Amino acid sequence: MNHILNSKSPNPEDIRRDVSDFLRNKYGDRVIVPPEPERVGNTPGDKKSKETIPPRINFDLKPTELELYLQEYVVGQDEAVEILATKIATHFNRMKYETQNSDIEELEGNIKSNVLMIGPTGVGKTYLIKLIAKKIGVPFVKGDATKFSETGYVGGDVDDLVRNLVHEADGDIHLAEYGIIYLDEIDKIASSGNGVGPDVSRSGVQRNLLKLMEEAEVDLKVPHDLASQMEAAMEAQRTGKVERKKINTKNILFVTSGAFSGLTDIIRKRLNQQPIGFTNLDSDVLRVADEEMFKRVRSEDLISFGFETEFVGRLPVVVSLNALDIEGLYQILKSPKSTVILGKKRDFLAYGIDIEFEDDALWRIAELAFEEHTGARGLTSVVDRLLLKFEKYLPDTDLNHLLVTREMVEHPKRELDKVLTNYYIKSFQKGFLVRNNIVITFTEGAIEMLKSKAHAEHKTLEKVCTELLADYEYGLKLLNWDEFTVDEDIVRNPKARLEELIKKAYEKK
Ligand SMILES: Nc1ncnc2c1ncn2[C@@H]1O[C@H](COP(=O)(O)OP(=O)(O)OP(=O)(O)O)[C@@H](O)[C@H]1O
Ligand SMILES: [Mg+2]
Repeated sequence: MNHILNSKSPNPEDIRRDVSDFLRNKYGDRVIVPPEPERVGNTPGDKKSKETIPPRINFDLKPTELELYLQEYVVGQDEAVEILATKIATHFNRMKYETQNSDIEELEGNIKSNVLMIGPTGVGKTYLIKLIAKKIGVPFVKGDATKFSETGYVGGDVDDLVRNLVHEADGDIHLAEYGIIYLDEIDKIASSGNGVGPDVSRSGVQRNLLKLMEEAEVDLKVPHDLASQMEAAMEAQRTGKVERKKINTKNILFVTSGAFSGLTDIIRKRLNQQPIGFTNLDSDVLRVADEEMFKRVRSEDLISFGFETEFVGRLPVVVSLNALDIEGLYQILKSPKSTVILGKKRDFLAYGIDIEFEDDALWRIAELAFEEHTGARGLTSVVDRLLLKFEKYLPDTDLNHLLVTREMVEHPKRELDKVLTNYYIKSFQKGFLVRNNIVITFTEGAIEMLKSKAHAEHKTLEKVCTELLADYEYGLKLLNWDEFTVDEDIVRNPKARLEELIKKAYEKK
């Protein structure tokens, strides 16, 4: 696969030459053939063209400031928050320090604070990094490591992430060079160690990433994209020179993450092999929860898991995130910054309905979400599932408030039915009173029958009442009554019953 693709993609120089030949053949001397591209912009490491730092970035955040900010949003990941806030704040402060002190010596073999995050799904890994990128003011892109191994065409995709950073930075290459690249499912590019089959390409992916994570130059223009090459040629027509824009990855922070199932076994095994007295006994090690195990991870475990030594070496900051328990999930719902609740509120506000949640309801939602084993993502799916029919039917009413109760969470269908029945009956009663000055009530049996009718005829309960009792508006007025109860008999046979009522009344006179 690799070979086929490579043999089909000409290199950038070939393309440049072919485009030049084509233009020259067609227009002769009237065109300027693009010269050999020259690199423009800063060259990191090159002391002569010393960089400046993009003014937009908040380089000066202190670890405690960043931590405080993250704690406003993120529930229950104190250790991860502390490590990330500290290491990432230092990463940016240090870049500033080194840029502003151009006379200091560059530290050879220095490794920046790229991050490896270990943790189950939906516990805040991506969320944390996005928040950090936003607070610091750097562009952020997210990619999936499995994409690279699937195609086997490694280099291209990884480079695309770097190019996407420029896009995120609205074309500002300099700003992009300080961005954050987030790579999910990194555990999927670990090889199983037997050295054949897909493992070979997985190590290949690791090696490709390795180069970017350290320092590489990525062409802004996709080399095998003819359109961008033509564009370059046209640009050359206008300006007489070609700018070859490159992005240097030296200062880009790479954050990788994965669930790493199976890694705890490796850690346990290592701990077990240590001399007794030096570490826990077998049984203790077995009893320690996976979460605690992840906290004891060492480079050698990651290497046993299937990462190249050099790859692990480029990820000096390792943090593990905890699974969220019911209390944690509840806290997320209670948090004033919780997008789950704020998002749902906004969905309903779009229809003019203000929804509120009882505390008991939130706790029950947290319990149900916990059973989904998808972390905080479970909250969104539980709330969505629970309120779907409400979201569908309430916009038909002019209700402007809904209190979500625990009962609603337990029995959404039944409770919605209650809300709607109540609303439509009341609405009919109000209309009837206004039109005829008669208070109308319904027996429970009558309401049940009207509901089935509404259901069968795909009408609202109010419409069914209005149609069924149309003659009563005039009839009851004739009788000069000021209140009237609708029972099952009337629903079954409205006309006959009304006639009877009127006949009886006139007989009495
Ligand atoms: N600890 C947390 N505190 C507050 N909100 C959280 C927390 N964890 C997750 N969330 C909420 O859940 C959403 C999904 O979480 P996130 O994208 O961070 O999951 P993840 O850990 O990256 O999972 P995955 O491995 O599936 O990508 C977040 O956008 C956020 O709204
Ligand atoms: Mg994620």
